[in-house]
Amino acid sequence: YPYFKLEPSGDLLPGFGLGSWLSKPGEVEEAVRIALDAGYPLIDTAAIYGNEAEVGEGIRRSKVPRSEIWITTKLWNDAHRPEDVLPAFEKSRKALGVETIDLYLMHYPCAMEPGEEIKVIDISFTETWAAMEALLETGKCRNIGISNFSQAEVETLLASCKVKPAVHQLERHPYLPQHDFIKKHEEWGIHVTAYSPLGNTNPSYAKGDTLPPVLKNAVVTDLAEKYEATPAQILISWQLSSGLSVLPKSTTPKRILENARYVPLAAEDVAKIDDIPDRRRYCDFSEVIGYKYYADLECHID
Ligand code: A2P
Repeated sequence: YPYFKLEPSGDLLPGFGLGSWLSKPGEVEEAVRIALDAGYPLIDTAAIYGNEAEVGEGIRRSKVPRSEIWITTKLWNDAHRPEDVLPAFEKSRKALGVETIDLYLMHYPCAMEPGEEIKVIDISFTETWAAMEALLETGKCRNIGISNFSQAEVETLLASCKVKPAVHQLERHPYLPQHDFIKKHEEWGIHVTAYSPLGNTNPSYAKGDTLPPVLKNAVVTDLAEKYEATPAQILISWQLSSGLSVLPKSTTPKRILENARYVPLAAEDVAKIDDIPDRRRYCDFSEVIGYKYYADLECHID
């Protein structure tokens, strides 16, 4: 797999890793162990997934030493008050049972009141970011980044930050390629990681959808035949061949192994997937949270 050099730390981010959102409790530990023993160099989790302790168990049960594993986790919306950032980070770090976190992301730009009730509060992500910058000085956090920001939100952050986000993790697959937004990240010097590269096949997201899932898209299945690969391998390889890192989620042992095969695509075949015209964003919590995410990006909710 390719590795990507991050600014400003100079660390090499593995291009490929296991996503763990919606991984069922009792399954994710084994999925992490299988993935690591099969050569996955990176595990992605988040405080809100509620599975950090299990992910940590899977890491310890694998044969791979901690020094060879990249761990990414995320700050939840209810800990955006600057004084809450370090305690939230420490809680995640201890749940994972590790000395250092390789990459800590602000999961979303909006802040919420702590507790069960979903209530957006007026704390700017720039204030939260300053507290994340301070984490770098503890020596326990190697890199900081963002997830699910709009273009205007990234620009606001860049205008006020001392340390740039090393990574922006966002939804990306052939129905949401975000070509212009990805190009912007090259200008900004922010590496992009794609989540839901298989179009998040969770049935609740595609209910009543008339579009075929990306895994069944004809351009993708034709390329799978051409490369003697599976549609999932083509979708994952498309991200890597486009210079992005990628986080397919699976808790199915056979698929975890399947997804680990990188099939470098010829430029003309990358372009074929780039040109798929259908558009769909599968993951948008704007209505649930009461905050307009992705306001200036493709497929946002008005
Ligand atoms: P499962 O975890 O049951 O194996 P995404 O990473 O785009 O969010 O997609 C994750 C979804 O895709 C999960 O439902 C996962 O199911 C499924 N999935 C993962 N790998 C494959 C694969 N190789 N082929 C088909 N579906 C897959």
